[in-house]
Amino acid sequence: MILGIETSCDETAAGLVTDDGEIRASVVSSQAELHARYGGVVPEVASRRHLELVSPVIEEALREAGAGLDDVDTVAVTAGPGLIGALLVGVAAAKGLAWARGLPLVAVDHLHGHVASLYLRPLDLEPPFTCLLASGGHTMLLDVRGRSWSEVRVVGRTLDDAAGEAFDKGARILGLPYPGGAEVDRLARSGDPAAYAFPVARVPGLDFSFSGLKTALLYAVRELSAAQLEARRADLAASYQRAIVRALVERLEAAGGERVAIVGGVAANSELRAALPDAVAAPLSLCTDNAAMIASAARYTPPLAHADLVALDAYASAS
Ligand code: KG4
Ligand code: ZN
Repeated sequence: MILGIETSCDETAAGLVTDDGEIRASVVSSQAELHARYGGVVPEVASRRHLELVSPVIEEALREAGAGLDDVDTVAVTAGPGLIGALLVGVAAAKGLAWARGLPLVAVDHLHGHVASLYLRPLDLEPPFTCLLASGGHTMLLDVRGRSWSEVRVVGRTLDDAAGEAFDKGARILGLPYPGGAEVDRLARSGDPAAYAFPVARVPGLDFSFSGLKTALLYAVRELSAAQLEARRADLAASYQRAIVRALVERLEAAGGERVAIVGGVAANSELRAALPDAVAAPLSLCTDNAAMIASAARYTPPLAHADLVALDAYASAS
């Protein structure tokens, strides 16, 4: 089995996946509550919490799978992109395990991990397909020709905020708790999406832009008294969500491609899923950050040469 470890942001996760993509365990310990009072992830706080949680979370995954370290034949870890201090905790844990047990170590790109959530059973999606990757840190349109990361081309990306970031910042403007995406999703169900006409930015090609939308929401909210905001909050959430979903769907349709898939935290959004009935969507539990997807990606990534194991470093930004 492959042991996956993920600590790129505020989820400490460990997963166990077989070589043919069966999930034996997927444990995710979210730090969201810890960061909620700051309205976002505090990198230093995240790193320290990862340090406390990484070993217990790995043990919990082994327990869930009814397995021991002897059953692990490969260690996989997110090397980037993400918060550098957070990534280093997972990388150090993975190196230690691989070194001590003489196991191959695979460095996985977090974005490849999100795409590889589609390669787990029972979904087991076969490329080629066009993939929308929408998370808190990234929004990209990908042309996926094969399961390895080198067979994936970025054909569009956000020029400013990521879609999940737009959800989170919008939620903050509306006075909703962090993390905001799921809160906006929930509140939008009782609102009127046609109440406000928020702009969908039109940028050339297949790129995205969400910062203007966020500003439009801010201006709309500034016009309202506290009581009015209370009364209109659901309508604002519904209209704002509609604008984000429309931008994502339009671009995905413009990209063409016979088969379409959606991954990443924003792929958990109920309106986006409903707006794309023919798209393959990652299961809800695999949309937001997890380590089963990292173990899955490792199946299509060559391990580091033994001599490079100790030298493995994390990277903060997507290349
Ligand atoms: O993939 P992910 O867990 O972490 C990153 O790699 O960034 O994505 C987290 C993002 C957050 O911005 C969160 O607000 C958003 O996904 N998200 C949602 C929903 N659930 C999570 N956005 C919209 N609707 C949801 N239901
Ligand atoms: Zn992610």
